[in-house]
Amino acid sequence: MNNTQSNMSKWSVTSRVFHWISAVLLLITWLLILLYENLDSNLYIGLHKAFGVSLLFWMIARVINRVFTKAPPALPMPAWQLWVSKLSHFALYATLIAMPLAGLLMSVYGGRPVDIFGLFQIPVFVTPDRSLARFFNDMHTDIIWPMIIGFTLLHIAAALYHQFVKKDNLLARMK
Ligand code: HEM
Ligand code: HEM
Repeated sequence: MNNTQSNMSKWSVTSRVFHWISAVLLLITWLLILLYENLDSNLYIGLHKAFGVSLLFWMIARVINRVFTKAPPALPMPAWQLWVSKLSHFALYATLIAMPLAGLLMSVYGGRPVDIFGLFQIPVFVTPDRSLARFFNDMHTDIIWPMIIGFTLLHIAAALYHQFVKKDNLLARMK
């Protein structure tokens, strides 16, 4: 497929903005936890939570946008690749919502309100429960996070494959 054809079937502007800002928010949230793990400062864990909650709201808005805007028709590819892409896109949506939810629930079940950039606080809206706090902590760090890493790496590998092996200009649809 040549340039002109793939440019004709681009993602909508809103979908493209939602896509790249989600990626940047994920990167920032991850960098903040790395800073926290290495420098052990309350500033970074606080910012990690605030950016994580921002990503939650961003993903909810992104899903609503996805329901109401038309996706461009898929590029020609083997059926199995189409299925893997659909499945992994769905998994990215699901895990990027489940991850901040688990973080939020681990905090409130641990009895800690969540401060959002000093603007407002999400109060402890549940009865604190240590075992549930632990459960959501385990989900956050041991289950959902490895899934996000796996699906994101698969996603980027697929983008590189389209760009440099198939050379079908898929990336231009999202630029
Ligand atoms: C998509 C958004 C988020 C991502 C990608 C993310 C990612 C991570 C990662 C990678 C870790 C380190 C896990 C490890 O120890 O190996 C972590 C820890 C943590 N996250 Fe998140 N997080 C997100 C959202 C949130 C939210 C919204 C909150 C709370 C409101 C939160 C609270 C925490 C806390 C308290 C820890 C430290 C847990 C511990 O030390 O045991 N996270 N997060
Ligand atoms: C260098 C990094 C990235 C590149 C090059 C990239 C590229 C792309 C491209 C080209 C598409 C459109 C595929 C198509 O037209 O069929 C796409 C879709 C998508 N990307 Fe990425 N992406 C990147 C990072 C990410 C990250 C970090 C996430 C997760 C936060 C993500 C989540 C998604 C999702 C969920 C879709 C499907 C969109 C939909 O069906 O609504 N991407 N990406």
